[in-house]
Amino acid sequence: MPTLAEKLRAATHRATTSLVHRGWRWLQETGSVSAARPGSYRFGAIGEHTRLTFPLGSVFNERWIHLGTHCIIGQGVSLSAGFLPGIDLGPSPIIRIGSGCVIGKDSHIVGHHSITIGDDVWTGPGVYITDENHSYDDPDLPIGKQWPRNEPVCIGPGSWIGTGAVILPGATLGRNVVVAANAVVRGTVPDHSIVAGAPARVVRRYTPDEGWQPPIRTVAPKPIPEGITHEELVALIGWDLRIPKTPTQEADPIA
Ligand SMILES: CC(C)(COP(=O)(O)OP(=O)(O)OC[C@H]1O[C@@H](n2cnc3c(N)ncnc32)[C@H](O)[C@@H]1OP(=O)(O)O)[C@@H](O)C(=O)NCCC(=O)NCCS
Repeated sequence: MPTLAEKLRAATHRATTSLVHRGWRWLQETGSVSAARPGSYRFGAIGEHTRLTFPLGSVFNERWIHLGTHCIIGQGVSLSAGFLPGIDLGPSPIIRIGSGCVIGKDSHIVGHHSITIGDDVWTGPGVYITDENHSYDDPDLPIGKQWPRNEPVCIGPGSWIGTGAVILPGATLGRNVVVAANAVVRGTVPDHSIVAGAPARVVRRYTPDEGWQPPIRTVAPKPIPEGITHEELVALIGWDLRIPKTPTQEADPIA
């Protein structure tokens, strides 16, 4: 039989744990950033129903970052424009994220010149997207002190980027591209392609004439049951999958 002191200690532990969990939930709720509650962040544009989960990663020069509507930016996601906070990066946005995007936890979107992410792009956790490489031309100078090279990055609407993938400077991904987990992507990827590996290669592709080549190996997904309402779907999976009909003009999403 536990003594009274042991019972008290156990109850105190339970209460403390519950307090910490509730406090953390309160912090996450209160610290999350949205258009209505930007806190100390001044994004170039942030659309309705877009939310950056607290705690944020390294977010700076957000004046050059434009976010569309209905986006979820996961916990610990870094969004940075330029090398250092507080520098003038000119008249155009550096990072543009369309509407309906989900950026997975602990991803990094590191822009120096131009990164454009289309509507409805979803990424897994720990994805790295950058438009800059260090230069190494001068053999006598430390690489970190050489002026870097920038090339714009563009990720087409509807694409899905698997966990741990790296999107390199100059990459242009088409519409509905799948990037496999841990792929390292450079160059141009055609619409409706699946790319995998490092360097990433097209492993499957859809064209209207040939369909999927090679044919998809896995069993076809179950269709959504007939007659299910949007509200029931949201209750089931917790996501609002409606494609936003009126993306904010300020967010300047790509079509
Ligand atoms: C790419 C993926 C979606 C599978 O797509 P798929 O069209 O069904 O591809 P398949 O499984 O038929 O594989 C096609 C080829 O790509 C290769 N491949 C698939 N995923 C790969 C990966 N991550 N890395 C390297 N090669 C991979 C397969 O080995 C196969 O090669 P083969 O033809 O020589 O045998 C899946 O492998 C993947 O990486 N998913 C990411 C999951 C994730 O990160 N989720 C995060 C939650 S958002």
